[in-house]
Amino acid sequence: MNINKQHFRTIWPDPADSSTILIIDQRQLPHKFVIESLSSLDDAVTAIKDMHVRGAGLIGATAGFGMHLAAVQAEPGAVDDALKTGAVLLDKSRPTARNLKWAVDRVLLAAGDGKNDAEKKAIVFHTACDIADEDAAFCKAIGQHGLNIIKEISRAKQGQTVNILTHCNAGWLAFVDYGSATAPIYAAREAGIDVHVWVDETRPWNQGAKLTAWELQQEGIACTLITDNAGGHLMQQHMVDMVIVGTDRTTHTGDVANKIGTYLKALAAHDNNVPFYVALPSSSFDWEIDKGSDIPIEERSGDEITAISGLTGDGHIETVQLTAPGTRALNYSFDITPARLVSGLITERGVVAAERDAIHKLFPEK
Ligand code: MRU
Repeated sequence: MNINKQHFRTIWPDPADSSTILIIDQRQLPHKFVIESLSSLDDAVTAIKDMHVRGAGLIGATAGFGMHLAAVQAEPGAVDDALKTGAVLLDKSRPTARNLKWAVDRVLLAAGDGKNDAEKKAIVFHTACDIADEDAAFCKAIGQHGLNIIKEISRAKQGQTVNILTHCNAGWLAFVDYGSATAPIYAAREAGIDVHVWVDETRPWNQGAKLTAWELQQEGIACTLITDNAGGHLMQQHMVDMVIVGTDRTTHTGDVANKIGTYLKALAAHDNNVPFYVALPSSSFDWEIDKGSDIPIEERSGDEITAISGLTGDGHIETVQLTAPGTRALNYSFDITPARLVSGLITERGVVAAERDAIHKLFPEK
């Protein structure tokens, strides 16, 4: 997608030296656009853990390239060991996004075909690149399938603006390109449909306020920032035509883990007959866990709630304290939206009901 009209992906190998991986440091957005270099496994683990990169697809792509960095650093004859160590460290870096383990496992499996260090390193690098390319391609396809839903709403509204509410950032910043929840919005704009997006600010890390609003503006999509608590009221006032969110992990039975607060949006949408869609590449499906309540939910530092960061008048990004010293805070990062509240899952293969049989029919190989 575009930043100041120049196309960027969120992660890419340095064209001059593929042992360096480049990312956009999302902690600095929207105030500063900083490209960071990752040159070791530790750099990749830190980037995921401390949210220089975030969002399910991008976490997966970074894990793939993290495995590549582990292989690059390996002593002669020790690529297998380096990959095993890399897998353990990367797997632990964030617990909820399924794409992380999916990417690590895919690289490990592929590396098994290499007969020596050189072959293994080459396979690992190409697999990491494939993971990134596939993520972008799948998100593009999600855009086309989601577009059909937006087209129908636009037709029913006789061409009036389609108002879409989204939570957190499941935009291109959360993937390699296009995004999941945003891909249908970008496709609708291409198709000449008038769309407007309600952007939940998404406390405490404010992915909506800092990232989604910024990327939509960069793409010229009309959007309005709202507080996390406003969505229910807007739905009651018929100001929301559909909700599209992303997901960090969705069970093969259709339960959806996504950024904390998603469940409340789904309840409000259900109560107001507003369609609630979840957009995801198949790499976010968990084919082993049956119940959403079994998905591990990340608990992050309470400091993310008691303090807030922003731009000072003299152009620095600073963190200030919101609460009285010693205020206790509980910071669950994700919640589970049960399948019964989901109108449909928008995947790279099409839109499917959030039900076990329908999901398995669409992905029979799983
Ligand atoms: O904590 P984050 O920012 O990594 O959370 C992930 C998310 O961005 C959201 O939950 C998103 O809606 C789904 S990930 C595509």
